[in-house]
Amino acid sequence: TRIEKAGYKHFMAKEIAEQPVVLADALKHYVADDGNSALQALDFSGVDRLTLVACGTAHYACHVAKYWFESLAGLPCDIDIASEFRYREPPLSDKGWALFVSQSGETADTLAALRYARDKVAKVLSVVNVPTSSIARESDLALPILAGVEVGVASTKAFTCQLAVLALMALKAGRDRGRLTAEEHATHIADFRLLPGLMNHALSLAPEIEKLAEQLAEAQDVLFLGRGQMYPLALEGALKLKEISYIHAEGYASGELKHGPIALIDSRVPVIVLAPRDHLFEKTVSNMQEVMARHGKVLLMSDAAGVTEAGAGCWRTLTLPKVPDVFAPILYAIPAQLLAYHTAIAKGTDVDQPRNLAKSVTVE
Ligand code: G6P
Repeated sequence: TRIEKAGYKHFMAKEIAEQPVVLADALKHYVADDGNSALQALDFSGVDRLTLVACGTAHYACHVAKYWFESLAGLPCDIDIASEFRYREPPLSDKGWALFVSQSGETADTLAALRYARDKVAKVLSVVNVPTSSIARESDLALPILAGVEVGVASTKAFTCQLAVLALMALKAGRDRGRLTAEEHATHIADFRLLPGLMNHALSLAPEIEKLAEQLAEAQDVLFLGRGQMYPLALEGALKLKEISYIHAEGYASGELKHGPIALIDSRVPVIVLAPRDHLFEKTVSNMQEVMARHGKVLLMSDAAGVTEAGAGCWRTLTLPKVPDVFAPILYAIPAQLLAYHTAIAKGTDVDQPRNLAKSVTVE
């Protein structure tokens, strides 16, 4: 069947807008009313290490997942990009599992990494959008993300669906490993069910983000900052922006600012801070103030409490709905995507087919 833009100007816009629906579909597939049905076959209790390998946006999904598996399940995690992993000769534990994340399931480096790991670990898992793909076929178990066909080269809905499946896996691991009580697990699942609604709210901020984007389009360099599980989101926000608007963008862990990137700060460099009002908020705000003290233009993305507390003196603020802490990376992906999208539109670039990039990189 031919995939159409269904009234949207670009596939990317359509795919961004679809996220609340596809995420709800994924949730329905993985979580029956009585618990974690589709993940029942996985028992994380004897796993001593989880190695997550992917490329591009899928790698950033793994990076977020590391925070989840460690904090929710106490499961030691390694993450790597596939092109490094495959040649690094990493020693792997025979009680460990390896997990490969790929939208297409055909990325050459990720497939090679899977083949490297296959005989060295207890189980090879994959999280894919294409269940018939090579990566899915060569895994012991392939978990579909159910995002539907993604046409835009810059990954959007596949990213949030990857995060959704990885979050549900981390919660299952938390139960299996005795880190989460049944009650805590149920609370997280109930929180998860709020996400489609919160994502709709985030999508409704598009007109405001469009205005921000018109100003961002003037920038030559943009920094994205985040701490904890928002750090990988800063990396993904920067990747999205550079992929489609061709503006030079870097993502940094907030705490690393003073070890280099602060040298770049002046009144022409917008710094986008991804900071829900969580237990790390104060730390991130103090990094943000270091930027403002050097006349950096801060765009703070936070919830109402965070914007009220720290918005004064920022160049711009964007108020997102309050989201349960664990799932903030899934929600904050949306404003990051919309910002990249509208900035690219303002610059007049080819959003769905950015120069030099391919949807799926099947050669090394
Ligand atoms: C390409 C795409 C990216 C994607 C990456 C990994 O670079 O442009 O959007 O994240 O490949 O692709 P995969 O299909 O393995 O997720």
